[in-house]
Amino acid sequence: MASELKVLIIEDNPDDAVLLVRFLKKSGHVVMYRMIDNQTDFQSALKNESWDIILSDFNVPQFSPLWALNLIEERELDIPFIIVSGTVPADKAVELMKAGANDYVMKDDLFRLVPAIERELREVQIRRKKKQAEEESLAQKDRLRVLVEELQRAVDSREELIAICSHELRTPITSMKLQTQHFIRALSKDNAKAFIDNYLHKFIINTNRQLDRLATLVDDMIDYSQSGSGLVTLNRNDQVDLEAVIHKVISKNQDTIDRSGSQISIHIISSAPISGDTRRLEQSFSNIFLNALRYGKGKPIQVSLVVDEKQAMISVEDHGIGIAPDDVDRIFKRFERAVSASDFSGLGLGLFMARKIVEAHQGQIRVASSLGKGSSFQIVLPRNRSQEKSVSSTSSAA
Ligand SMILES: Nc1ncnc2c1ncn2[C@@H]1O[C@H](COP(=O)(O)OP(=O)(O)O)[C@@H](O)[C@H]1O
Ligand SMILES: [Mg+2]
Repeated sequence: MASELKVLIIEDNPDDAVLLVRFLKKSGHVVMYRMIDNQTDFQSALKNESWDIILSDFNVPQFSPLWALNLIEERELDIPFIIVSGTVPADKAVELMKAGANDYVMKDDLFRLVPAIERELREVQIRRKKKQAEEESLAQKDRLRVLVEELQRAVDSREELIAICSHELRTPITSMKLQTQHFIRALSKDNAKAFIDNYLHKFIINTNRQLDRLATLVDDMIDYSQSGSGLVTLNRNDQVDLEAVIHKVISKNQDTIDRSGSQISIHIISSAPISGDTRRLEQSFSNIFLNALRYGKGKPIQVSLVVDEKQAMISVEDHGIGIAPDDVDRIFKRFERAVSASDFSGLGLGLFMARKIVEAHQGQIRVASSLGKGSSFQIVLPRNRSQEKSVSSTSSAA
């Protein structure tokens, strides 16, 4: 063994210590040693340095080997401790071995010392490897458990999505089906009356509304599943014109706006391009704007844009049903809604996706709301993002 052996020697006779070291050196070890003869020095030696082996005399006046062994155990140190002494009474030897001493060697029998040390060093190695293997296997088990939990969450969220979708999709379908059946019956009876008196008109208006509802649900679903259940990655780095985004989303939803009865006013306070993913930002703004229409009770809605050197802020303010303080955080989580399904259909994914998108842009969505009075949502985006983060993952939010 050529590597340096660090030996702590508890001994009050320097000659004895030198003798021990000579034995070790003779057998080919490179030795670094320290001799101490009291408990205070022992404590600081353990604290400040690492030792390969401790050799302790039994009869040092200021030192109790039993105390030392307890201290080693208390500190959970794995350092072989060998008693090297002129005399050790048999009952004391047993007591020390019980307390954790690895061996005892008589001073007149020192040829046993080196093999004993080497055996103990080998055993320490084995114990360390075993411990390392155990730790690795524990870490592996932990990783596996996290993976299983993630998978379970994915399965749960899929099942939840399916349950919510099937419920939400069935409602408009049932409504349209009932009306269609009414007309089929009328047709079979040659009952032309069924097609006058505004019936047909009402039917078409209702069908159109239900189809819009279905289209929104399907869009939300597709969005959600396409983005890996909420893992939003930005593929593009456009110079996004947020003013154009606002106008585009509003004109695309003109029918819905008309039906909602809300007046939309747009205030472009200042405008400048920001870097980001245009399509994603349209989607995020659209989700918030459509909520304002849907939950805005037909009252006026203000959309505004301010851009300064650092950031851009779009705000959407409605005067509708508002949100209770307890619900404000919850509604950004997936499938979370603060309205009853019978009043408003929806999957509860719009704000979740909107927030994921904004977070992937290193921005944030803020909301101020008062129940029964209205809500104000703000999308705040940095004009330039720092490089490293452009993915917003599900685990941080759900
Ligand atoms: N402008 C708003 N006014 C009042 N409540 C809102 C508004 N926007 C969102 N909410 C609440 O947040 C919930 C979650 O919104 P969202 O994730 O878009 O799902 P969905 O619209 O499908 O229910 C809604 O169900 C509603 O309770
Ligand atoms: Mg919504």
